Amino acid sequence: MSVEVVIGASGGLGQALVRLSMVVPGTRVIAISRTTLPPFTHPALQWICCDNSPGAINKVIEDLTPCAEMIARVTLCNGRLHDRDLIPEKRLEQLNEQSLTRLLHSNTIVPALWLKALIPLLTATPRVVLTVLSARVGSIGDNHLGGWYSYRASKAALNQLLQCCAIEAARRAKGVKLVAYHPGTVDTRLSRPFQQRLRPGQLHSPEQAARHLKQVTAALKPDGTLSYLDWRGETIPW
Ligand SMILES: NC(=O)c1ccc[n+]([C@@H]2O[C@H](COP(=O)([O-])OP(=O)(O)OC[C@H]3O[C@@H](n4cnc5c(N)ncnc54)[C@H](OP(=O)(O)O)[C@@H]3O)[C@@H](O)[C@H]2O)c1
Repeated sequence: MSVEVVIGASGGLGQALVRLSMVVPGTRVIAISRTTLPPFTHPALQWICCDNSPGAINKVIEDLTPCAEMIARVTLCNGRLHDRDLIPEKRLEQLNEQSLTRLLHSNTIVPALWLKALIPLLTATPRVVLTVLSARVGSIGDNHLGGWYSYRASKAALNQLLQCCAIEAARRAKGVKLVAYHPGTVDTRLSRPFQQRLRPGQLHSPEQAARHLKQVTAALKPDGTLSYLDWRGETIPW
């Protein structure tokens, strides 16, 4: 039996990943979310509510410890681009302390707290792909448009944290393959206000995106490095 862990499981991509994995024979899916009630149930699914505070994360890690060596995949789906009073900035005047702080918290600090807890859990796991949902707009080299200051900065900072983590994991958790992943533009709550100008075929359903993620990461082997990949499996410049 293998175990797949999805963190930030109630969102568009998280739910699609859970649905895809829970029907694979021999797979147990552990879904972790701030949402108390699972949106669906299945015999292979265990839903754990967690508010992403350090104490609550440690409690989840305790629950995962007995099956640590069976974990084959961990996917961190937490991320936020907009909210009621949080709009991606088009110009410097729209930048403010609150939106920067809030996006850094959900997009950078929450994944960092999970990484801090997960790497010690996975030290004896023979082979596990740890995929963290980043975004192409987190790439500094690929930034030719500007704007979206807080979101871009939070994902660029996430990528840097992941690089540090990959260097440390190469010593401490040799079975871990770390991936910073861009899923393409996916039809979820996060992208919904920004879908008007997309080319035909550019918008992926959450189900397609979940399949792409699994295909791209399936063949990856622990090599002590961080990969920054898009949904086609192509490397994104830092
Ligand atoms: N959709 C796209 O086009 C697209 C493109 C590039 C990158 N991404 C990235 O893909 C990931 C998944 O996004 P999605 O499209 O599935 O969006 P979504 O449907 O809005 O889901 C976002 C997830 O992030 C978590 N989250 C939201 N606010 C949070 C907060 N304040 N603190 C901690 N966690 C929070 C939620 O987890 P809970 O279950 O715990 O509530 C939720 O599952 C994100 O990291 C996003 O940046 C998406």
